[in-house]
Amino acid sequence: MKIKKGIVLAGGSGSRLYPLTVASNKQLLPIYDKPVIYYPLTTLMLAGIREILVISTPKDLSAIEMLLGTGEQFGINILYQAQEKPNGLPEAFILGEKFIDGNPVAMILGDNFFHGHGLSEAVFNPAQNLLGAHIFTYNVEDPERYGIVVLDEKENVLDIEEKPVNPKSSLAVTGLYYFDGSVSERAKKLKPSSRGELEIVDLIKSYIVQSKISITQLSRGYVWFDAGTPKSLLDASQYVEVIQSRQGTFIASPEEVAWRMGFVSDEEFKMVLLKMPKSKYQEYLLKLIKS
Ligand code: DAU
Repeated sequence: MKIKKGIVLAGGSGSRLYPLTVASNKQLLPIYDKPVIYYPLTTLMLAGIREILVISTPKDLSAIEMLLGTGEQFGINILYQAQEKPNGLPEAFILGEKFIDGNPVAMILGDNFFHGHGLSEAVFNPAQNLLGAHIFTYNVEDPERYGIVVLDEKENVLDIEEKPVNPKSSLAVTGLYYFDGSVSERAKKLKPSSRGELEIVDLIKSYIVQSKISITQLSRGYVWFDAGTPKSLLDASQYVEVIQSRQGTFIASPEEVAWRMGFVSDEEFKMVLLKMPKSKYQEYLLKLIKS
């Protein structure tokens, strides 16, 4: 089935970014010239998803809502939901059960940054006809920091482990997941792990044991960051600055993605741009319409 709904999970304590996160939510900090959340949001939009639920802490939700609003300016519909405590990633599917309503759903972590030639197809195609679960992997140098998958020679998923001390592979599970309509039921059956959280790897395991999982291996032509530390925020910012100033194109502008995806008409796009303050951002988007 085609995925039409998506969740941006943008809560958590942000402790690795302390004291940056005392008064601000991690997802509102900048990656170069845009808030962090623009990057995962546009990834979902590139997958063709227009119904979006943003989940964050009760403290941060209103600031995120101030930034994104109803989503109308991006030709999408955004709803908001609070997560009282960071009880684990699968809790998103329990909190979002009504929103999901038995449909297939994508989830992206609010600090995940994807970029690269062909990314649109890589995220769009598997969303068009989902069976079971679909995950996106990326080869990393520090596998002990991530969920790691083990594959056989035919790329079947054999196993998955969260932050293993002795990793059996270097294939990290990125923070973009597609699940079928059974995901909320599956999430409700999970038990908290020894660190007291519901674990995304346990949810994925429930699909692995039923052989209902497929993967996309994002090759080295792509870039993937999880912008959860001061260094990764800086790395991502530098990357965006270099690409944007070299190529003259912006990465992760939701207004541009909405227009390119046909979520808004030329006329609607223009109206949105004219309401923006004079800025480099507005200048860039106005140029697009003229060209
Ligand atoms: O980024 C990919 C990795 O994300 C995966 O490889 C791991 O399997 C997955 O567990 C996750 O690992 P992290 O160590 O990055 O998870 P963390 O607890 O930092 O949470 C990721 C984001 O989700 C972070 O921005 C905070 C947010 N979050 C987290 C939890 C546990 C929530 O909004 N609610 C939560 O309950």
